[in-house]
Amino acid sequence: MKHLISTRDLTREQAISLLDTTADMLEVRGRDVKKLPTLRGKTVANVFFEDSTRTRLSFEAAALALSADVSTFTAAGSSVSKGESLKDTLQTLEAMGADFVVLRHAHSGVAETVANSGWIDAHVINAGDGTHEHPTQALLDTFTMRSRLRGADARGSGLDGIDVTIVGDILHSRVARSNVWLLNTLGARVTLVAPKTLIPADVSAWGVSTALTLDDALESNPDVVMTLRIQKERMTSGFFPSESEYSRFWGMTTQRLARLKDSTIVMHPGPMNRGLEIAGAVADSPQSTVTEQVANGVAARMAVLYTLTGAES
Ligand code: NCD
Repeated sequence: MKHLISTRDLTREQAISLLDTTADMLEVRGRDVKKLPTLRGKTVANVFFEDSTRTRLSFEAAALALSADVSTFTAAGSSVSKGESLKDTLQTLEAMGADFVVLRHAHSGVAETVANSGWIDAHVINAGDGTHEHPTQALLDTFTMRSRLRGADARGSGLDGIDVTIVGDILHSRVARSNVWLLNTLGARVTLVAPKTLIPADVSAWGVSTALTLDDALESNPDVVMTLRIQKERMTSGFFPSESEYSRFWGMTTQRLARLKDSTIVMHPGPMNRGLEIAGAVADSPQSTVTEQVANGVAARMAVLYTLTGAES
C-alpha cells in the first residue's frame, strides 16, 4: 500500500492491521516519551484546499510524534488565488522535499487523480475529497467503536455483529461513505437514516439497511449511533423544511439517548452543530465519544503514516 485514498481499497487484514497499529500508537501516546523515530528526516506536507480543524492538527501531531518534519499549506493566502494549478502547487511542495502529501480538497476524486497522475512520487493520503471519502476518519471511528465495545485488547478482531446506525446528511458525507465501506469489510451491520432528500438514490448497492426516522432505527437498539453534521456549505437548496423539524425527526436528543442501552455509544466526527443533529447534553454525556475520537485520530494517523512508510514506493 503506497497511498491511502479510499477505505474501499482495504482488505479485512489490512484494515484490522491498521486498527491494531492504532492501538500500538495509542500506547506510545501514553508514554513519558511520546515519540517514535520512524519518520526522522522525512517531511509530511499537509495540503488543505478546504477548511479543517481536527484533521489538519491531528495529521500534524501524528507526523511530529513520528519525528517527521511538517509543512502545512492552506489554499487561503497561497498562490492558488493567483491561479496556480494543483499540479504546480504539488510539484512545488515536492521540490521542497515532501515525502507524504496529506490532501484535502473540495472536489471528489482529487486524491486518486493525484496518486495516479505521476506528478509527484510522494505517498498520497486522502484527508477528505468533496463528498467522496475520508478514510482516516473511518479508521479512527472504527477504532473507537472497537475499543469502546470490545475493549482495548481487541487486537486481531473486526466489528462482527455490531449494529451501527448512521444518521444525518449522508448525501454530502465523505465520512459516511468511508465508514460504510470499512464497516462492511469489518463485519458490522449498518443502517442509514436521513430525510429522503439527504440520502443518495442508489444506496441499494451499499450493503446497508435504511430507515426513514431516527426513532425507527433506534427500535433495533444499535450499539453505535453515528451522527453527522448538516453540511450547509455543500447545500444548494433547502433539503429540509426547518432546523426544528430536522432535530425532531433526525436529531440525537436527550430523550432519544435515554431510550438507548447504557453501552450504546454516540459518535460525531466534528465539527458539531449543537442543537441540530446532536443535543449539547448528548455530546457531553458519558456515552458520547466525541473527544475520544479526536484523541484516537492522532493515533490512527500515526498508524497510517507508519504503515505507508513500510510500503515499497
Ligand atoms: C468531517 C469532514 O471534514 O469531512 N470532519 C472531520 O474531518 N472531522 C466531517 C464534517 O465536516 O462534517
